[in-house]
Amino acid sequence: MSIRFRLLLSFTSVVVVSVILFVSAAYLLSVAVTGDFRSISSFYKIHYSLHPLSEEEETIFIDLKYLAKHDPQKLKDRLLLEDYDFKLKMVQAGLVVRNHDELIYAAPIFEGVNFAEILPPYDLGNHSIRNTINAGSRFFSYAKFDFYFSAAKDDKGSIFVLRERSPFAEVVRKLLPILIAVFTAILLLTGFLLYRYVTRKIVQPLDGLRQSAEHIKDGDLTFELRSASTDEVGQLVMTFEEMRKQLYDSIQLQLHYEENRKQLLSNISHDLRTPITTIKGYAEGIRDGVTDTQEKLDKYVEAIHTRAADMERLVEELLLYSKLDLKKEPFSFEQVELNGFLHRVVGELAIEFDTHSVEVSWEQAPRQERFVLADREKLKRVMMNLFDNCFKYLNQDPKKITIGIEERGEHIRVKLADNGPGIKRESLPHIFERFYREEPSRSLGAGGSGLGLSIARQIIEGHGGTIWAASEPGQGTSVYFTLKIFVDRR
Ligand SMILES: Nc1ncnc2c1ncn2[C@@H]1O[C@H](COP(=O)(O)OP(=O)(O)O)[C@@H](O)[C@H]1O
Ligand SMILES: [Mg+2]
Repeated sequence: MSIRFRLLLSFTSVVVVSVILFVSAAYLLSVAVTGDFRSISSFYKIHYSLHPLSEEEETIFIDLKYLAKHDPQKLKDRLLLEDYDFKLKMVQAGLVVRNHDELIYAAPIFEGVNFAEILPPYDLGNHSIRNTINAGSRFFSYAKFDFYFSAAKDDKGSIFVLRERSPFAEVVRKLLPILIAVFTAILLLTGFLLYRYVTRKIVQPLDGLRQSAEHIKDGDLTFELRSASTDEVGQLVMTFEEMRKQLYDSIQLQLHYEENRKQLLSNISHDLRTPITTIKGYAEGIRDGVTDTQEKLDKYVEAIHTRAADMERLVEELLLYSKLDLKKEPFSFEQVELNGFLHRVVGELAIEFDTHSVEVSWEQAPRQERFVLADREKLKRVMMNLFDNCFKYLNQDPKKITIGIEERGEHIRVKLADNGPGIKRESLPHIFERFYREEPSRSLGAGGSGLGLSIARQIIEGHGGTIWAASEPGQGTSVYFTLKIFVDRR
């Protein structure tokens, strides 16, 4: 059974049950008001025109009818009429007698009612003897009998036994069917609108979900779901949509990884092949006796050594990078005073700075102690990689490096600025990617493996910091990284 059908069924049953309840309530109400079990049926089936009077009234009416048939003259006797009227009064009814168009008797309890004008015309066949009449705002049910007072055929007369009914009952009697019809119509309409609303809010989004799931099953993850509502179904749709997005992203990421892996393999093969070819060339030279002098031989062996050392460095970098990438390289954090630490690193490299004729200057004069939690070895590695780039890429004299340490909120920011050639704007976002080199030539002589900055990034991120670069082509490059300030909580 579909949800749509179930909804239709439930709304229909609600309508039916409501109607039944309403009708029963109306019945019970009428019983409560009139105190009569058959009130509803007398309302509609028998009605006042058939049962205008109670049993006692009816008996009196039959007595009067008997008189009218057999001894009509007696009905002109006022005393007798008063006597009957008195009996009727006991049961809240009254007698009215008419002779031609004149009332010869009207019960005192109907005072103020102008019967002469509202009484029905003569119907001497007595076809319709029970009915109702309105007198202004008052409402009566009655039984009447038309007869002749004497054998002289035109001495017409009527007796009326009337009972006053509450006009409210009449209004209800007339309005009740309309009310029930209106009520049912409202119920049906509300039910229909609710059904439409619920279908729109539940069934349609579910339909969308099913479609999306089918698209996913067929491998199409681009099918987007939208939900305007925030109710449970809306949330379900949104969660589903989120799941689809994540699935899509993860597949995209997987593809990206796959692409990267291929790229990585090709880069490594290329970077290893170049020095191997060179080494092979030199080795063949030696084998073929090209190195006929000791001097030549020394040169060849030296070249082989250099290439082998380059390869060793590359393999070592690769290993470190992949360990960091796989989070297999352990960090041994300790409290480090950054200012002193950086000065020591620069001090250790004094000879290197001299050979490359690089001037190092510090931005802040007074040495301030700044503590961070760091792995000394790895942090040194970061600095070495950054300095290494300066040595490699600075090309004008005098070569200058400025080091700055600055406190920024919870972090310390280290800046390493040079006055080198700078980095092109389009390359800047990529320099921290593995194997990325601005100069695409991959020969080891012309630069490095392109792993230096990616290793630096892995290490800094492993410390919970960030690393980035700013550069103005022709002016120089600044590399920044942040480290969290160490707070002694003991
Ligand atoms: N100080 C610098 N000045 C100019 N370019 C730089 C500097 N540092 C890095 N770069 C650029 O960023 C690229 C990536 O650097 P890196 O990852 O260390 O690789 P590598 O040094 O092996 O080329 C370099 O190839 C170079 O183009
Ligand atoms: Mg480098």
